[in-house]
Order: sequence, then C-alpha cells, then structure tokens
Amino acid sequence: NIQVTKPALSIRLCGPRGFCAGVDRAIQIVVLALKQYGAPVYVRHEIVHNRYVVEGLEAKGAVFVEELHEIPEEHRQQPVVFSAHGVPKSVPEDAQARNLFYLDATCPLVSKVHKQAMRHQRLGRHVVLIGHAGHPEVIGTMGQLPEGTVSLVDTIADAEAYMPEDPDNLGYVTQTTLSVDDTAGVIAKLQERFPNLTAPAADSICYATTNRQEAVKEAAPGCDLFIVVGAPNSSNSKRLVEVALRAGAKRSLLVQRASELNWDEIGNIRTLGLSAGASAPEVIVDEIIAAFKERFAAEIELAITAEETENFLVNRELRSVPLTVE
Ligand code: F3S
Repeated sequence: NIQVTKPALSIRLCGPRGFCAGVDRAIQIVVLALKQYGAPVYVRHEIVHNRYVVEGLEAKGAVFVEELHEIPEEHRQQPVVFSAHGVPKSVPEDAQARNLFYLDATCPLVSKVHKQAMRHQRLGRHVVLIGHAGHPEVIGTMGQLPEGTVSLVDTIADAEAYMPEDPDNLGYVTQTTLSVDDTAGVIAKLQERFPNLTAPAADSICYATTNRQEAVKEAAPGCDLFIVVGAPNSSNSKRLVEVALRAGAKRSLLVQRASELNWDEIGNIRTLGLSAGASAPEVIVDEIIAAFKERFAAEIELAITAEETENFLVNRELRSVPLTVE
C-alpha cells in the first residue's frame, strides 16, 4: 500500500479573465435568435474565436459560414448573425441586396473604433490603423472606409517605414485586442515622426484587453509556467501569452482544452499562472484546474487587479426573448 504524495503547486489565477461583455453579448445574440426564429441561424465567421463555443452553438442549430453566398436559397428568411469582430460595410450591403435578415453582433467597442475612424476621415485626416493584417476585426475596420484611405501599421518597423502622402493630416485608431505596451511603442514612433498625428477621442484598446493584460502582469513574475486558455486565432489570448513571458514567467502556453496538456513537458513546476482570453469559457479554466489537481496538491491564489461590471444590451429585436438558464 504505497502512499504517493502529490507535489505542491501554487496556482495564481488571474482576474479578470475569460469572457468579456462583447463576447457574452455575441453568444447571447445567437442563442436568442435560435429561440426567436428557430434553427438554422446562420453566423458569418466564428461568432467568437473559440471552438468550444462554436461547437456548442452548432449543437443548438447555428450554422457557421464564411461568406453570405454560402447561405442556401431556401434558408434566406432565416437570420444571419455577424460576428463580434465586426464586418466591412460591404457585408450588410450585400445582406440587403440578397434580402437577408441580419443581426449584427459586432462588439459595441469595435463599433466605437469604426466611428472614430470615420470621424478622422470626415475631418480630412488619412486614417492609420494599428493592428494585425488579416484579423477579421482589422478587415472590418478597414472596410468602414473607401479602399486606399486607411493604412495598416503593425510593428515599430512598419511605423518607421510608413510614408504618408500628407504627413500633417493623419489620425490613428487601433485594433481593440492589441498588446497595450507594444501599441504604446508604435504610437510613440508615429508621433515622433508625425507630430500632428491625431489620437482617437477614446482609447481603441478595450477595457477587457487592458484588464486581462494587467492581471497577467501581476501574476506572471516567478511563475514556472503560465497557461492562457484560448484559441490560436484569438488575438487577445495570444497577447496574454506574450505579456506573461515579458512579465517574468519562465514558460507560457496557449491551451484550448485540458486534453492538450503534455505532462512530460510540464514536468515539476511549483508555481503556475492561469488566465483565459476574452473568448474562452470558464468551464475550460475549471477543466485545467481539475487536471492539475489530479497530479499536484494545488492551492489557488487569486491575482485580481480589477472588477468588471460592463454589460452590453443585445439587439433591439431580441430584447423581449427570455434568456433562460440551461
Ligand atoms: Fe469587445 Fe473588447 Fe471583448 S472589443 S468583444 S470587449 S475583447
């Protein structure tokens, strides 16, 4: 009868972590649309970048497409939801042309960035968008304005190389989910080169991105390993992995499910940092904690740096649908 004592592990659990108000709202919109209109409800692009969420909604009758032409003719009367990341103006126009009924789940904080970009343009400024090429939010923000009127800048090297036509008439906005510190560097470089560069009226990086990065910075120093629950296409989750490493975690991993954990590689750790990107559900955080508790005598310490109370209303058409807890 051999007694095996589990090694001690301290888990630093970050707060805030996981779902933000924009993700919560986008998921609610799909769930409520299914209740109100019945299946199928089409969703253009992953509603939020998380496979677990997408599969859960598929099981309820949501059908994910990349473009509107994929919606079959016989289902044109069913609603189509636009994802939380936002869409170029051409997408609602296309939906109208096809006589589709759409529900826009763009996060209100992304819509705010769209408005700031349009405002810069109205005031005669060329728009500089700081963000990652190819991300759906960047495609959506660029698509608010005519082609050629927005320049994308990602890195400090891009900011150094950027050659605007009219250097005195520039206004910037950013993607909502960038690294707060990296973006400050890119903005500083642009400001140094273009002193008349106009900032947006309010910060484009959202409260949820900022708060999750702050909590990771607090928890990461001295961690043997830092795990961020999130998907490889989730911008804000990837930024948390970088922030953890920079703040002093020895290793950092982006993990989608507990089943991905490689215990040989994890080895003998004493301190684990844990957070989750804005599109990652809390059940997966619980699943990861449970997996560590099987192998370690784990104690949880909280690293809380802010309290969040943000809550965004769903679309008007859906406000009277009762949201019952399932
Ligand atoms: Fe919105 Fe920020 Fe979440 S822009 S969707 S609140 S990560």
